[in-house]
Amino acid sequence: MTETSDTSGLRPFYAMAINARARALEDQGHSICHLEIGEPGVAPAPEVRAAAAKMLDQPQGYTHFAGVPQLRAALADYYHSQHQAAVHPDSIIATMGSSSGFILAFLGTFGPGARIAVTRPGYPAYLNTLSGLGFEAVEIPVQAANNWRLTAEDIATAHARSPFEGLLFASPANPTGAAVTREGLAEIVATCARLGVRLISDEIYHGLDYRGPSVSALEFTDQAIVINSFSKYYCMTGWRIGWMVLPEAVLARTQMLQQNLFISAPTLSQHAATVALGARAYAEEQKAHYAENRKLLVSALKQLGFGLADENDGAFYVYCDVSRFTDDSLSWCEALVDQAGVAATPGVDFDRLNGNRFVRFSFAGTRDTMEQAIERIAGFVEP
Ligand SMILES: Cc1ncc(COP(=O)(O)O)c(C=O)c1O
Repeated sequence: MTETSDTSGLRPFYAMAINARARALEDQGHSICHLEIGEPGVAPAPEVRAAAAKMLDQPQGYTHFAGVPQLRAALADYYHSQHQAAVHPDSIIATMGSSSGFILAFLGTFGPGARIAVTRPGYPAYLNTLSGLGFEAVEIPVQAANNWRLTAEDIATAHARSPFEGLLFASPANPTGAAVTREGLAEIVATCARLGVRLISDEIYHGLDYRGPSVSALEFTDQAIVINSFSKYYCMTGWRIGWMVLPEAVLARTQMLQQNLFISAPTLSQHAATVALGARAYAEEQKAHYAENRKLLVSALKQLGFGLADENDGAFYVYCDVSRFTDDSLSWCEALVDQAGVAATPGVDFDRLNGNRFVRFSFAGTRDTMEQAIERIAGFVEP
């Protein structure tokens, strides 16, 4: 079933409201386990920090609008070595995290008011950015029974009901961690090509696949817009650095928008990011740690009666059905943080229709935080 977004406006990100509530409680001396925000709790790799420290003595002027040549060359090498995909450095733009990449992709590719599809549940900024820029969002529901993975059939059905010009989706996804298989992605790429839909592939959680290597849309096509970021795998959320790879047809227009909207991505972060691409061993250490947290949290939540289809494929989130405990996930999350000291994100952030029955827990924190959170959640649901 496809629904046009039921809202014409922006919505707050409730994770932030829960985070503010948790911080106020901490200020009063309460202890809080933070499972609401999706970011690694550690600094980037030591060599990344060292490179940035060394750069601080030098001027930090604007760079080439598309990013320093070293970073774009290193990214082209990354696609060659990780994905056996040929990407020319000139088709890459360094961005301020993936967030500015979405703005550039929408404005660079589509005309005013175009209809662009996203999944439900999905990352809330997709809907809010589309609304803010005057585009129309079309939601494609994905199913827990299919472990929340988007399929080519979902896309074709949605398009037949209500056509759209673009599709933005993430694999692994937020909030579900769902990752499409290699075959699944090949079918999605082929279906978008058949329907004349421009695919925007958000690959920000690449590297954080627990079932096998991440697969890029660029392995199947040079017609997709690929958006990625150093925020998650490389532990650099606050450095605000990401990149996009663009097909020829939309490259020049997107470059002009980048020049005018953002000038260039942060200089220090571009240099740090170039080093981060070579620091995968450190990123893999963090991933191993998330993988352990994932096993621990998923099995504990299942035992406590939370609805979970299967272990999620990637990212660092568990999206679970809380309908056994509540039909109002926001109030439930407020009570959980107030009474048990565990901050989590209500599903209404990710799904405006059915999100009242779901909650997202992030397992990017330490093992101690996970263990303490599980004990507290158990006390809350089984007093
Ligand atoms: C699916 C997805 N895409 C993009 C972003 C934005 O990340 P950034 O702008 O830090 O790269 C996030 C952040 O949580 C996300 O979950």
